[in-house]
Amino acid sequence: MPNPVLFTPHRVAGLELANRIVIAPMCQYSAQNGCMTDWHLIHLGQLALSGAGLLTIEATAVSPEGRITYADVGLYDDATEAAMARTLEGIRRYSDIPIAIQLAHAGRKASTEKPWLGGKQIAPGQENGWQTEAPSAVPFVAEYVPPSALDPEGLIRIRDDFVASAKRAANIGIDAVQLHAAHGYLLHQFLSPLSNQRKDEYGGSLENRMRFPLEVFDAVRSAFPAGGPVSMRVSATDWVEGGLAVSDVVAFAKELEARGCDAIHVSSGGLDAKQSIPVGPNYQVPLARAIKNAVNIPVVAVGLITEPAQAEAIVATGDADLVAIARAALYDPRWPWHAAAALGGQVWAPSQYLRSQPSQYKNLFRT
Ligand SMILES: Cc1cc2nc3c(=O)[nH]c(=O)nc-3n(C[C@H](O)[C@H](O)[C@H](O)COP(=O)(O)O)c2cc1C
Repeated sequence: MPNPVLFTPHRVAGLELANRIVIAPMCQYSAQNGCMTDWHLIHLGQLALSGAGLLTIEATAVSPEGRITYADVGLYDDATEAAMARTLEGIRRYSDIPIAIQLAHAGRKASTEKPWLGGKQIAPGQENGWQTEAPSAVPFVAEYVPPSALDPEGLIRIRDDFVASAKRAANIGIDAVQLHAAHGYLLHQFLSPLSNQRKDEYGGSLENRMRFPLEVFDAVRSAFPAGGPVSMRVSATDWVEGGLAVSDVVAFAKELEARGCDAIHVSSGGLDAKQSIPVGPNYQVPLARAIKNAVNIPVVAVGLITEPAQAEAIVATGDADLVAIARAALYDPRWPWHAAAALGGQVWAPSQYLRSQPSQYKNLFRT
């Protein structure tokens, strides 16, 4: 296939991506007191050689209480900033891949055990546990200790935490910020009527439920350097009757676009344990298409996109501008190389690896 769209460049605000492949954010639960460790240098280092157009750093907490687990990465003080700067310095020495960071607060889904140790809530007062905060005192599952409902001062504190983290990200040379409003974490908890039962101006109507995520967006947008993309990751549906629906998220995306948001990354689910998700290849692509039809900013599709021809079809038909891969990139960190070989595209490779180019793929590598 000559000139695959997947390997054409794409501009997101002031950032030029070499191709349409994004490495999605993936928590590693391998930090110490919020600080990145050598694991992150190995993990992000290998993905920085993947040839993707953009590498997204995992959900990074804007405060210690915003972490999903005690082993999450944070960017909330000088120590966490220094640890991330050290990781980035190592990566930047050998790769100029654009790097985004996903800034997050887990809200009522914070204070849990690492997934491979069961992932359940750790109650406040127990080792590695703390009291969670959320729009309303409604727990994620009935047996969990309920979160505290945030008061107006709490909202300002968390908004300012997002801003401070975004400034730290800019300080250490991160190219783009993605705000996490998906998968049932704090900003999504405000959007969904299932988790947001507030009676003030932050709850009730869709306009009210969007208010806090939009305030956070506005504040981060004005704090992050002009031209540096600020995007939003959304869950386009809760997959639960009475929950957030795609029409709500289309309205949210339009409002974000009007306020200067640079891209929308379309995922789904994660808010309610009753969700029923029709998982399969491309299962979230129709959601990306629905948002793409409503906005003019770049839209990213994600979710079981594992084959080069599948990814090419998504961008070539215009269902989305970019595709993100997560598990496929862990399984095969050079997925973009293999996709370029399969489709007839070109990818960047480091000089040290140029001799690996298989003889049947002429001009696969761009140095
Ligand atoms: C190990 C792992 C960690 C993840 N961590 C995050 C995260 O930090 N933030 C996020 O928004 N999604 C996270 N996700 C979801 C992925 O970004 C992605 O949306 C999901 O895995 C579906 O894409 P895939 O089918 O290509 O894996 C994670 C997924 C995996 C497998």
